Amino acid sequence: MMTDAGTSNLVSAETIIDTTQKLLGATSAGDARPHLDALVSALATVTGIDLYPSCYNEDLSTQTGFGKAISPLEAGRCAWDIERTRIFMAGVYQAIQDVLQRRERVELLYAGTGPFGLLLAPLAPLFPADRLRVTLLDIHEASLEALQKVISLLKVSDRVAHIVCADATVWTPPAGESYDILLSETMKHMLQQEPQVKIFSHLQQFLNPDGMLIPASVQLDAWLHSSESGKNIHLGELLTLDRSLASALHVGDDSCLSGSLLIPECEENMTDLKVTTFIRIYGDHCLQENQSQLTLPRYKKNIRPVPGSTLNFHYHLNDYPDFEFFYRSRPATADLPLPDSLEVGELGVYHLKRIWSKAAHAKVGKLDEAVRSREWLLDQLVFELLGAPMEKALATIYQSRRFQDVEQWFKEASEDDISAHRVSAINARVVDELEALRG
Ligand SMILES: C[S@@+](CC[C@H](N)C(=O)[O-])C[C@H]1O[C@@H](n2cnc3c(N)ncnc32)[C@H](O)[C@@H]1O
Repeated sequence: MMTDAGTSNLVSAETIIDTTQKLLGATSAGDARPHLDALVSALATVTGIDLYPSCYNEDLSTQTGFGKAISPLEAGRCAWDIERTRIFMAGVYQAIQDVLQRRERVELLYAGTGPFGLLLAPLAPLFPADRLRVTLLDIHEASLEALQKVISLLKVSDRVAHIVCADATVWTPPAGESYDILLSETMKHMLQQEPQVKIFSHLQQFLNPDGMLIPASVQLDAWLHSSESGKNIHLGELLTLDRSLASALHVGDDSCLSGSLLIPECEENMTDLKVTTFIRIYGDHCLQENQSQLTLPRYKKNIRPVPGSTLNFHYHLNDYPDFEFFYRSRPATADLPLPDSLEVGELGVYHLKRIWSKAAHAKVGKLDEAVRSREWLLDQLVFELLGAPMEKALATIYQSRRFQDVEQWFKEASEDDISAHRVSAINARVVDELEALRG
């Protein structure tokens, strides 16, 4: 056990305890903001850390074999992800209370404390010394030195069993120690880049049989997404990091890191892959999509997977943890040959589909200049015959990924109804012009 050293003259333990209690009572980011401001500013003062220095030193992050341990400064700034901090703290507080219902004392391992031990240290004074025993671990000595100051100010060193500077993916606790709660927030959205998965899979072996992980689960889901309509189609779950997955990984079963999902029949504009992260911290304390930096959705744009094929995935558990996806793509319009002028859509107007296809080729620099200049007058004639304003017609053609949308726009923009009779007349003119061009 450590002993309490000096305290800061500028901040009192009571201020931190009081703001922490107010933060625990907050029910939204707006509510939490002033209390979090006060708490972080107090912690910055106690530790002497300037979270926004005017000049930055070199990158003080550490690359481990299973992901990046962000620098003490970056770790301190995580506090400002308001909902993350508010809901994690509320979840940890609730979890400790619940374990205390069945145990005399909670043994908690906090892997990745950062400089403030934010998700736990401010809560420590709210529990009697004989009912909470924590092990605080971080890979960065500078973070632990700062954290010592917080512990001293709060006079909670009697609740601290060990302060350990080590890599949590390989560290082993002293013989005979085991934990009721393993707390770690060493993640980004999509479990990318940071070592959360490996930290949980390694350290879960030191949990008591009824011990728990916090966060309890991190669920990643895949969706097909249309950026045009905003519509999403759920493809399925990629993986859920929880105690059972962490244990499976520990015994060498990594089958849960790969899988395949069926691409259903869907509209052509469902071209993007979207991956969401949902975090259950403890009980009902959850972080939903977009509620925090950790649950921002990520997109792979315009992958155009083929309906009926499968999206295969693999999560790489290496020095840059991340997903790799494998899929078959439908060819883009610009990769297909230009349609003949007589190829039509539902409207039946000659040359319109070719104009739209030429625009798709032009957008990616694939349109033959000779074709463009030879057919320019014919293109204008088609717009004129359809009775649509030229500039708007061109804008629509360039913006629409689906030819159906182009036809729909002309139906709505045309001065008169586009009747079958009118289509025949338009097509007769187009054929004349085509013959003149070929002649
Ligand atoms: C995202 S920060 C979170 C800081 C703090 N727990 C919070 O929530 O505000 C992650 C912390 O975990 C530490 N960390 C990351 N990987 C680690 C590892 N393999 N072993 C020990 N600490 C690690 C980093 O140094 C950093 O302090």
